[in-house]
Amino acid sequence: MMLAVGPVPATCSVAGGCCPEFPVHCPPKRGKTNERRASQNMSTSNSNGDRRNLIVLGIETSCDETAAAVVARDAGGRGRVLSNVVRSQWDRHRAFGGVVPEIAARAHLECLDELIAQAMGEAGLGFGALDAVAATAGPGLVGGLLIGLVTGKAIALAHGKPIVAVNHLEAHALTVGLTDAVPPPYLLLLVSGGHTQSLIVHAPGRYDRLGTTIDDALGEAFDKTAKLLGLGFPGGPAVERMAKLGRPGRFALPRPMLGRAEPHFSFAGLKTAVRHQALALAPLQEDDIADLCADFETAVTASVSDRVSRAMDLADERLPFATRALVVAGGVAANQSLRAMLAGLAARRGYVLHAPPIALCGDNAAMIAWAGAERLVLGLVDGLDAPVRPRWPLDPDAQSAIGAGVKA
Ligand code: KG4
Ligand code: ZN
Repeated sequence: MMLAVGPVPATCSVAGGCCPEFPVHCPPKRGKTNERRASQNMSTSNSNGDRRNLIVLGIETSCDETAAAVVARDAGGRGRVLSNVVRSQWDRHRAFGGVVPEIAARAHLECLDELIAQAMGEAGLGFGALDAVAATAGPGLVGGLLIGLVTGKAIALAHGKPIVAVNHLEAHALTVGLTDAVPPPYLLLLVSGGHTQSLIVHAPGRYDRLGTTIDDALGEAFDKTAKLLGLGFPGGPAVERMAKLGRPGRFALPRPMLGRAEPHFSFAGLKTAVRHQALALAPLQEDDIADLCADFETAVTASVSDRVSRAMDLADERLPFATRALVVAGGVAANQSLRAMLAGLAARRGYVLHAPPIALCGDNAAMIAWAGAERLVLGLVDGLDAPVRPRWPLDPDAQSAIGAGVKA
C-alpha cells in the first residue's frame, strides 16, 4: 500500500464499481487480553474444538477495498465461499497517486452496509443463520478499521453472535485453507502492498517470522516503480502488463540481498536503480518502459527466489518432510512471473507450491470470514472491547531486522 500525501478534498466522487480481482493483512499471539474463549462470550453456541458446520460473515475495510463475504466451514474443515463482494476505491485515490486515509474511511462508511446486505442476500441467509461475525481489526488504516470492526460488533451484538477481530495478515496467511484445503504447518511468503515476509505458519495465531523487508514492501516497490514510469495506480498489475511486452536483459538492475545469510528482503535500491535508468533515457518511449518493467520483474524474481530459498534452509529443519508446502499470499501473489518462479523453486527444493486463485490474492472479505471460522473452531473469539490495531505483527516476538522501515 502506498499512502498519498497532500491535501484531502472536501468531497469525494462516487466509488468505483465492484472489483472482484483483489484483497488484504496480520494475527495475534494466543492469549491476548481481548481474546476470549467462545464459551465465555455472549450467546455463542460454538465452543473450543467445535465440529459443526459453521457460517461466518466477514468484513474487510483495512485499506482501499470495502468487502463483505459469507463463508461456510464444514465439520471436516473444508471451506466454501457463499458470497464475496469487493468494492474497490481506486477511482477515488488515483488522482493522488496513492491511498488517502481520510477518503478511504469515508468511502468505506458510504457503502459497507450495502455490501453486507448484498453478501447476505447472495448467500441467501439472514443474520440469524450466522455462527459468528469476523471483521478486520488490523493492521491497516485506523479510520477504515474502526468502521469495519464497529459495524461487525454492532451486527454481532444485535443478533447475539460472537465477534472475531481478525488480523488481516493472518487472513492472507490462511486463505489456502479455504481455497485448497491446505492446513498448516507450511512456509509462507506473504507479499502485499504493506508487508513482505517469510514465516512458518504453525496454526492460527502461531507464527515464526523468518524474513522481512528492511525497507519497501514488494507491492510498494511495484507501485512506486509504476508511478515513476507514469503507469498509474495501483502499480503491480500495470508493471506486470508492461513487463510482458518488454525484453528483459537490456538494463543491468541489482538483485537485492543475494546471498545474505538472513532471509530478509530489500527493494528500495532496486526501485531507485529503475529511476536512474529512466532519468538517463528520458523522455521514455513505450518500449523503454516495457523493457524497464521486464528487467524490474526479472530482478524481483531473482531476489525473491534467493531469499525464499534461504528461508527454506531454515524451514527445512522445522517442517515435516512428507508435507513440505510453500504458500504464497497477498496482492503480489497475483503476479504470474513470481508464481512461475516459486513453482520452479518449490519443485527443486521438494516443496509443493500453493497459491490462492488470483481473485483471492488481493484484499477480500472471504479470507476474513475464513480466518474468523478457523479461530472460532479453536474457541478464539473476542469481546466487544476488542481494539483496532493499525500495527499488528503476526509474530510479535520476531527480532527486528537491521534496516529502516520494518513494518510489523
Ligand atoms: O494484499 P493487497 O491487496 O493489499 C495489502 O494488504 O497491501 O496487496 C496490494 C498490492 C499492491 O501493491 C499492488 O500493486 C500489488 O499488491 N499487486 C501486484 C499485482 N497485483 C496486485 N503486484 C505485482 N503484480 C501483480 N499482478
Ligand atoms: Zn492485503
